[in-house]
Amino acid sequence: MKTHNQISHISLESRKRIHFFTSPTPVEKPAGLQKLVPSIDLLIKRDDVMELAMGGNKVRKLEFIMADAQSSGCDAIITTGDLHSNHTRLTAAAARKLGMNVILAMKGKKPEPVGGNLLLDFLFGADVRFFDVDRKELPSIMEEIRREREKQGERCYVIPRGGASAYGVLGYANAAFELRNQLGDAAEKIEFIVFATSTGATQAGLILGTKLAGLRAKVVGISVGRTGDEIAKDVTRLVGEAADLLGVSPKISSDDVIVNESYTCGGYGVVTKEVTDLMKSVAQKEGLLVDPVYTGKGMLGLLGLEKEGYFPTGSRVLFIHTGGLPIIFSHWRVEQ
Ligand SMILES: Cc1ncc(COP(=O)(O)O)c(C=O)c1O
Repeated sequence: MKTHNQISHISLESRKRIHFFTSPTPVEKPAGLQKLVPSIDLLIKRDDVMELAMGGNKVRKLEFIMADAQSSGCDAIITTGDLHSNHTRLTAAAARKLGMNVILAMKGKKPEPVGGNLLLDFLFGADVRFFDVDRKELPSIMEEIRREREKQGERCYVIPRGGASAYGVLGYANAAFELRNQLGDAAEKIEFIVFATSTGATQAGLILGTKLAGLRAKVVGISVGRTGDEIAKDVTRLVGEAADLLGVSPKISSDDVIVNESYTCGGYGVVTKEVTDLMKSVAQKEGLLVDPVYTGKGMLGLLGLEKEGYFPTGSRVLFIHTGGLPIIFSHWRVEQ
């Protein structure tokens, strides 16, 4: 007889997926960083190490999203993001790899000069458009773009901000199975999984995936800007949508949705000295790069929680490095 998690894995395996990176991504024991968190046993999963256009968590989501776009017969992708968006960079790369057109509705005015992820959006030849509007207006702007392009004969697929759709969630549900297969029994010893959270899609995938794969780790998202309540609401909705898509109904309660909002450093995209000092410390102790908008704050949360005594002494904690490195080249000033 098949167990529940075998059924779930089969249901995930049978989903259409386009492979954009070699899995599993590495799991490392970071000797230098370990000295900064002496009370825990730290591991890092390097989702910043992937072949597609400098990698990151968005690649996992795009494996399932782009497979859905392709099987729907689409030849153009429309999506949105902030000016430094990793999601737009990686969507542009994935679309080009599959021979599709890509239109990006960026929130904000075109900066001068163009750097970081935005520079790469242009390098991929995306049709980059700027809208200095409230974020809430972008879904209807994307629908207008869809109508315009479909009149010209293209079939368009719209991806929400950050790849936060049910298909996107499958990326990190799958990552939990990847982790279990990669580490075997050691995966069951992981007590906490910590990472930067924003739209909540990565977190939703990890919550769903750990349940389905039978891992006991608590999934702890460190908010990079939004309130804990806002993110938790989206995580809960996304878990439900992805579970429906898979046809599974794991037992997930509000206690499983843990969002820490104490490390936003004044808001989304705000880069404080605390963050840049942390980036320097991680670079100099471990030879590891983290970015100032996402992984820097995620790491700040990890270090802060260890200091607060949130993790029982000796806990095995896995930090997921979700990428974002091109942001270093648009948000960093030498004097920082
Ligand atoms: C580098 C990086 N880390 C973490 C996140 C947060 O992921 P999510 O939007 O799935 O919560 C994002 C995107 O928002 C990101 O680009």
